Amino acid sequence: MFLKNHWYVAASLSEVGHTPLRRIVMNEPVVFYRTEDGTPVALEDRCPHRRVPLSMGKLVDDGILQCHYHGLRFDRTGACVRVPGQDLIPPGARVKAYPVVERYKWLWIWMGDPALADPTKITDYHWLDHPDWGARSDYLYAQCNWQLVNDNLLDLTHLAFVHETTIGNMALVEHAAVRVQRTPTGVQVTRWIIDQPAPPAFVKIGGFTGNVDRWQIIDYTPPSFIRLDVGATPTGTGAPEGRRVGGIEMRNLNAMTPETETTTHYFWGQAHDFQPHDAAVTERVFQQIKTAFLEDVSVFTAQQNNIGLDPGAATIDINADSGGIQARRIVERLYADEQALVNAARTAAE
Ligand code: FES
Ligand SMILES: [Fe+2]
Repeated sequence: MFLKNHWYVAASLSEVGHTPLRRIVMNEPVVFYRTEDGTPVALEDRCPHRRVPLSMGKLVDDGILQCHYHGLRFDRTGACVRVPGQDLIPPGARVKAYPVVERYKWLWIWMGDPALADPTKITDYHWLDHPDWGARSDYLYAQCNWQLVNDNLLDLTHLAFVHETTIGNMALVEHAAVRVQRTPTGVQVTRWIIDQPAPPAFVKIGGFTGNVDRWQIIDYTPPSFIRLDVGATPTGTGAPEGRRVGGIEMRNLNAMTPETETTTHYFWGQAHDFQPHDAAVTERVFQQIKTAFLEDVSVFTAQQNNIGLDPGAATIDINADSGGIQARRIVERLYADEQALVNAARTAAE
């Protein structure tokens, strides 16, 4: 199940240049490149002649991509502009062109109806390139359905088990006050852990010597955008009342883009408000979280393998699933809405 009428992260900006880059998004092959003035382009990566990926070809003129096999040339709109050895360009000689936008050091793509592609609808990830924050982003390849990553990030009790040596401890499960609520577009899960020991990574980063008040505020925006506001302050200094002083505050920013039904491009970044211009701090924070995320990716692969063996096998739910279950309900409703639009457009065209 894919929701196409949404913006998704397709690549980090540094990946897209004058050499064609291929990436599959929601089962569609896409080729990315830049024109001479740096404008990014995304086209269907499948020549309409004999279906060779255009990404195997090369840029021969400003924004003109030449197929590797028989040399057909396509412009940035996807139109075929040359067929070697003949004057006539066959009708229908074009590939799909996708709207793209550069924002927050990522290239965003719109896979659905181009008429609906409104860049103001891109989810806010400003922490990744804001001067008050230090940040670094990254890409992971997750061999699982994209909704398994949503589930994971909306239920942070797994930190106590999967990440017990880095960002988790049992206080998260046994001593947390949890609230799950709907927001105008998505779900928010808030978790406060008061007067408990800091986890190992927080001690390293924040230098805590005593107990802390720790928060995790998870904001889910469909289909697959999960932004975590996390941090801790020395206990009793007023964080639950909104006074975040003497501690650390971070944003963990996740944007999952389905590649296929069983694989996901997992873009994520980590931003911190303390020593924001110290590259060594940014790197240390980033590496701590990356270690944890690699632990998650192993879980995803194992889960997806088992799901593939018997997709209909029964599962049970526990209290901690509440956020994830609500997110899945939202996705189902949006999918039904989108299919109704697609069907209405199909009927109108007939
Ligand atoms: S397959 Fe592209 S030109 Fe023939
Ligand atoms: Fe995790």
